[in-house]
Amino acid sequence: MPADLVIGAQWGDEGKAKIIDYLSKEIDLIVRYQGGANAGHTVVVQGKKYVFHLVPSGVIYPNTVCVIGNGVVLDTNYLIKECDELNKEGFDVYNKLLISDACHIILPFHGIIDSHREKNSGEGKKIGTTGKGIGICYADKMMRIGLRTGDLLDEETLKQKLEYFLKLKNEELIKLYNCEPVKLDAIYDNLIQFREKFKGKIVNTAYFLNKELNNGKRILLEGAQGVGLDIDFGTYPFVTSSNPTTGGALTGSGISHNYLQKIYGISKAYTTRVGEGPFPTEVYEAEAERIRELGHEYGSTTGRPRRCGWFDTEMIKHSVRICGINSLVITKIDVLSTYKSIKVGIGYELNGKKLDYMPSYGLERVKVIYEELPGWESDITGISDFNKLPEKCKSYIHFLNKQIGIPISIVSTGPDRNDTIFLD
Ligand code: IMP
Repeated sequence: MPADLVIGAQWGDEGKAKIIDYLSKEIDLIVRYQGGANAGHTVVVQGKKYVFHLVPSGVIYPNTVCVIGNGVVLDTNYLIKECDELNKEGFDVYNKLLISDACHIILPFHGIIDSHREKNSGEGKKIGTTGKGIGICYADKMMRIGLRTGDLLDEETLKQKLEYFLKLKNEELIKLYNCEPVKLDAIYDNLIQFREKFKGKIVNTAYFLNKELNNGKRILLEGAQGVGLDIDFGTYPFVTSSNPTTGGALTGSGISHNYLQKIYGISKAYTTRVGEGPFPTEVYEAEAERIRELGHEYGSTTGRPRRCGWFDTEMIKHSVRICGINSLVITKIDVLSTYKSIKVGIGYELNGKKLDYMPSYGLERVKVIYEELPGWESDITGISDFNKLPEKCKSYIHFLNKQIGIPISIVSTGPDRNDTIFLD
């Protein structure tokens, strides 16, 4: 059976969780493959809001098994906190969750180093990280010194690895950041507690997932963040430290590319971004405030106000190209209901020349070519039938479709599960 994939086509916060929630109905296993608790996935069911950070949002369905893949960096304390909260809400998370034995573990000093680095970086160098230690943990993974979930399964190995790891990190904490060293015993005890909570659930998920696919099960891969934040194909260095793109879905889960079928790219009907970095179609002051208030554009992980701007077709075409997106989803189109006219970025110019792609550098200097479309000026919240949309709204959707050149399969008109139009 196939594996489908949901990817953010912008800078994260595109409303992926709602789409994942919808698709999860017919899915057996849901897999997170990169990032960590920096993500915030919000799902609204019958007016009740759930925010997920590490646990795949498909956990809401009784039929699904949720998997944290090897590409995720795992904050063990955060995971326990999130699972306990979901448990209180009546979701049987501890029995539905499997964790890869190859996940790198975020330890308390990762967040400390992350915050210190941000604080100490000079003007124009701040990334605006979530401060959760994501980049620092991935850096240790690449340095081949990190601690993995599989290391928890043998106490002697755990002690040895932790000793070596802490020796290196304490040197860094003291010499570079003037911080107190961390103590092995407290971290060790904490990790053993985590292991006991997830007894039998830390497994070789790559083997398990491919076997399940071979046995006819359906899998949904759940991306966090978005293509614009990809370490290779995003707006480096203003990115996260993982690959939210299709390549990252494969290496972060171990699923063979042969199983991939539908690749959904999720985009808002406009654009937002949290943190620093170039944003060609950004608007400012009252114009930004208007979108921010209408769309409630505040980060679900950090609460920071999101930067806002118009839809950027060149960016979406970049995401389609890099990820092989074959189905586009437009979310939050209802937010544009009051606009008399709506701008869409349809191309970039750099140094007076029209570009045919989103550049890897110089993005802060591109001039955006805009097309202005008439707004529909009526509330479309909750409409679930394409034919009931105002003509001008249909034209806006057709326009985006024509610009990008791949089918739009879903349009979301509100936060609830039912506020959804299916075009397939
Ligand atoms: P980090 O992932 O915490 O290292 O932050 C790096 C950049 O990615 C910052 O600009 C963050 O604001 C951004 N970022 C990380 N996670 C998310 C997310 O889930 N949604 C939107 N932006 C994110």
